[in-house]
Amino acid sequence: MEAFLKGFKPGTKPKPTVKTDANPVPTTSKKTKRPTPWVEKYRPKCMSEVVYQDEVVAVLKKSLANPDLPNLLFYGPPGTGKTSTILALSREIFGDMFKSRILELNASDERGIQVIRDKVKSFAQQTASGVRPDGRPCPPFKIVILDEADSMTNAAQSALRRTMEKASKSTRFCLICNYISRIIDPLTSRCSKFRFKPLSKDTLSQRLNYIASEENVKVEENVIDAVIDFSEGDLRKAITLLQSAHRLKGEESITENDIADISGVVPMKWIKEIITVCESDSYEKLEKFVCNLSYEGYTTGQVINQLHDEVVFNDTFNDKQKSSICEKIAVCDKRLLDGGDEYLQLMDLCCTIMQQICHPVN
Ligand SMILES: Nc1ncnc2c1ncn2[C@@H]1O[C@H](COP(=O)(O)OP(=O)(O)O)[C@@H](O)[C@H]1O
Ligand SMILES: [Mg+2]
Repeated sequence: MEAFLKGFKPGTKPKPTVKTDANPVPTTSKKTKRPTPWVEKYRPKCMSEVVYQDEVVAVLKKSLANPDLPNLLFYGPPGTGKTSTILALSREIFGDMFKSRILELNASDERGIQVIRDKVKSFAQQTASGVRPDGRPCPPFKIVILDEADSMTNAAQSALRRTMEKASKSTRFCLICNYISRIIDPLTSRCSKFRFKPLSKDTLSQRLNYIASEENVKVEENVIDAVIDFSEGDLRKAITLLQSAHRLKGEESITENDIADISGVVPMKWIKEIITVCESDSYEKLEKFVCNLSYEGYTTGQVINQLHDEVVFNDTFNDKQKSSICEKIAVCDKRLLDGGDEYLQLMDLCCTIMQQICHPVN
């Protein structure tokens, strides 16, 4: 908008934008005119739309009635409603003014010590009045949301505690993170903590079915279950997957296979075959097989995840073998996170499995 205003000279007619009817975008159907990601479209607008986090919502609603909101710390797995809850809460507290009363900083912003100090300081210095434009009272403070706070360095976190205290007259903080253990103690002790639970299967399925019916998505039986299995309690992941599948199939109905294809799950026959090849006790065969598997383009992280379940629930392994293999899985997973080579890690893991099957040490 600003760029538009800058370029606008009085007296000249602004050029029509692509959106006007005189200049229609080709292939625009009514439904796809303004494509918004479904995660944003179906983000809860008010607190009562946040599902499954009943305790959190109840406590926050109580503190709404009472103007001294404490500093907040939301933690829990991804896609469980943390960001949505604080946005909905701000909307309920501040009404229409909510945009001017919150400062949102997330991991993509520069969050060194100096930036936090400067941004928060200038934001905290703006006074917040106790009435809304429509005359209704509203709390005289602003909210600073630090999303993904666990990715902040310890130094930046330490700097934050002083800032938090200095700004406490006019500002409340809401820290959001996945791992509370990565937040330093002096910060956790200054906040009320709220744990967000992984969403239950029923909740996920209700929400996905609701979205599917709103968007006229045709799904075959078990598709929603497949989406849920893949998304591991992360509603954002589930909604995104459903939307990708819908984009792929359009008017046709989505099948379980589509979900498997899109989500990059490795077909079980490959996983079972890894075990079979390991049983052969032949390094050459294993090497060839792993090579083929990597040509298929599956990520080693996914293969390892599925192998883990296969090994743990496989009764042909005894506890000792399972524990050795799982330990190796953990090591390889860590190396992958650190940027290790996918092929080498999978080979290393498979060699351990082979050794455990063919030459177990007692
Ligand atoms: N408890 C919930 N109730 C309703 N929708 C949810 C809930 N949790 C997640 N979602 C959906 O998932 C998307 C991502 O949620 P978000 O609040 O950003 O998750 P988080 O911040 O915990 O990672 C939202 O847009 C919303 O559609
Ligand atoms: Mg979030």
